[in-house]
Amino acid sequence: MRPSRRNLFQAVGAGAALLAAGTPDVNAADAPATPPAAAPATPPALPPDFGKASSANNPVNIVSPEHLEATARKTISPGRFAITGWSGEGLTYRANRASLDATPILTRRLQRIDEKAIDLRTSILGHELPFPMITCPMGGHGSFHVDAEVATAGGTGAAGTLYVSSGASTRPMEDIAKATPGPKWFQIYMNRDMELNRWLVQRAKGAGFTAIVLTADALGPGQSDEYIALGRPRDPTLTVGNHDPRYGGRGNFGDLKRDLSFSDISFLHEASGLPVVVKGVVEPEDIREALASGAAAIWVSNHGGRQMDGGPGSFTLLRPAVDAVQGRVPIVFDSGVRRGVDVFKAVSMGATVCAVGRPVLWSLMCGGAPGVKSVYDWMAGELHSTMLLSGVSRAKDLTPRNIAATKI
Ligand code: FNR
Repeated sequence: MRPSRRNLFQAVGAGAALLAAGTPDVNAADAPATPPAAAPATPPALPPDFGKASSANNPVNIVSPEHLEATARKTISPGRFAITGWSGEGLTYRANRASLDATPILTRRLQRIDEKAIDLRTSILGHELPFPMITCPMGGHGSFHVDAEVATAGGTGAAGTLYVSSGASTRPMEDIAKATPGPKWFQIYMNRDMELNRWLVQRAKGAGFTAIVLTADALGPGQSDEYIALGRPRDPTLTVGNHDPRYGGRGNFGDLKRDLSFSDISFLHEASGLPVVVKGVVEPEDIREALASGAAAIWVSNHGGRQMDGGPGSFTLLRPAVDAVQGRVPIVFDSGVRRGVDVFKAVSMGATVCAVGRPVLWSLMCGGAPGVKSVYDWMAGELHSTMLLSGVSRAKDLTPRNIAATKI
């Protein structure tokens, strides 16, 4: 997905009617923005070109991330697809790929590597994983697929790895937890109502989630120029599952706590009794303070370029984070991970696992749960061959010496 003037103009063409309709300032797939001053009294009608979510349910033949994205784009309307975009003009989004691409892999030779013995396994917070990849928390999957997060969690579980359920999921957390036999964490967008936060994390624990992910970087609308040009399309029939009274939910998801602080880490830990993973802290000083406040893992991310535009590529932030953590806790890395070679680079740099974001959504659109499994099979296959070709047997043995880390 590359922001371009052509995409933007195509989008504007498709969504001209929406501009006139004046849809609310909310991106359903992420933390809602502050409501507009003059919100319409009734939900807007479904935009004429908004179409239906995908109902595909098949394995996907993955050729490349670009091909997967292009195929996914054809499965749903431009309005739905634009929800997966970046913020602003996509500077940070592009920097994410550039920072990974700029780091070459180094190769060892004559290492007696037995192809059959290549071992991708890793572990994080007590969970054994078949490979160092997990699914990012992403909200609003109902915009993309009729089975929403049930399909995404199911596909992730079928691949054998960990699913992180977004606080902004379309379906309630209990349905998502039941959809995967694999490990799962619950990501929270903290509410101004601290009792609601307490209730949510205790509910998550009861549903089988084993860690709480505190997203620290989603404080604003985070909308792309393309999405705005389309009139901020949103399916008004979609709700946030965890708060929907039809599923036993309560509270106003949109009443977000924006003045997050380090004390929220200890609050979530005390309220849930679960380890707290802090997502989106990237400055070494912030990372040290998060650890001092009890963070059980650090998640290096810039939200896939969906929040502040103009920041550095996420991969450039990983090495300073690894230095700040000094091996005390695991590190999750995301933003720009598209292929097995990216996972190789991030794990070499010191990440424990990579979290896969948009490729999971694209495969969800193209194939539902079996499609999501396909993307993991493909990425794991590429990681396997990259290890063989670079002379490393075990993912756990990757170090910065396996990449030209000095170049970034
Ligand atoms: C996200 N992301 C996100 N993060 C989070 O903590 N809670 C959320 O609800 C969401 N929602 C969301 C929706 C959509 C459509 C996208 C694409 C992303 C951010 C996500 O967890 C992750 O940080 C990025 O997706 C990583 O960037 P790439 O690799 O997808 O480009």
